[in-house]
Amino acid sequence: MEIFIDSANVDEIRRWLGYGVVDGVTTNPSILLKDGGYDIEARAREIAGIVSPGPVSVEVYSNDHQEMLEQARTFARWAPNIVVKIPVIDEYGEPSLAVVKELEADGIKVNMTACMSFGQVVLGAKAGATYISIFAGRVADEGHDASKLIRQSVDWLTEWNYASKIIVGSVREVINLQDAVLAGTHVITIPPQFMTKWLDHQFTRATVGQFNEDARKALAIAEPEQPRTEVRA
Ligand code: E4P
Repeated sequence: MEIFIDSANVDEIRRWLGYGVVDGVTTNPSILLKDGGYDIEARAREIAGIVSPGPVSVEVYSNDHQEMLEQARTFARWAPNIVVKIPVIDEYGEPSLAVVKELEADGIKVNMTACMSFGQVVLGAKAGATYISIFAGRVADEGHDASKLIRQSVDWLTEWNYASKIIVGSVREVINLQDAVLAGTHVITIPPQFMTKWLDHQFTRATVGQFNEDARKALAIAEPEQPRTEVRA
């Protein structure tokens, strides 16, 4: 299983890469806006350089298929590890599957994004998407069982031998990470604040503090401070 960072914050990406537990990065226009990546090209190139050879997803921002293709081809020229995010349908419900198919046929990797249903996963795999992003938090917001969707999607891809990998995103709570991982997702993309929460534990801190204190006590007993010997003239 791979872990991606769902962020355009360069410091956070460097930090988590430095811990050796991160395989890639995902962004979207809202994340870039939030993290100050107003110049999409500059920030995408910077992140791609940092995370190389791991993948960095950058999303198109158009409902027009020709524009999607042009943006995708431009993004893909910025760095060899850029993966283009194409929404499964546009904001009016028009499918983007032909865009996915054409880009993949041209050797450009696609992360088919904003998926909320099993049907979208099946059709994305048929279109040849390298990655299919399930937005677990948004699925759960609508009252549906995201874990079931993840499990069924991964099982179906395996059963029919599709190479598409499921990325679970849209994390809302730390428990979502555990649920997605145990449901068998290939990749989970995690906002940095949830990485911190996933790792930290108040009782681990207390335990380590107790061990450090007891080690200091033991050392003080083993090596009591020696009285100074006076040097006589
Ligand atoms: C995943 O690739 C998306 O960038 C992200 O997880 C969407 O999350 P949201 O539902 O919090 O916007």
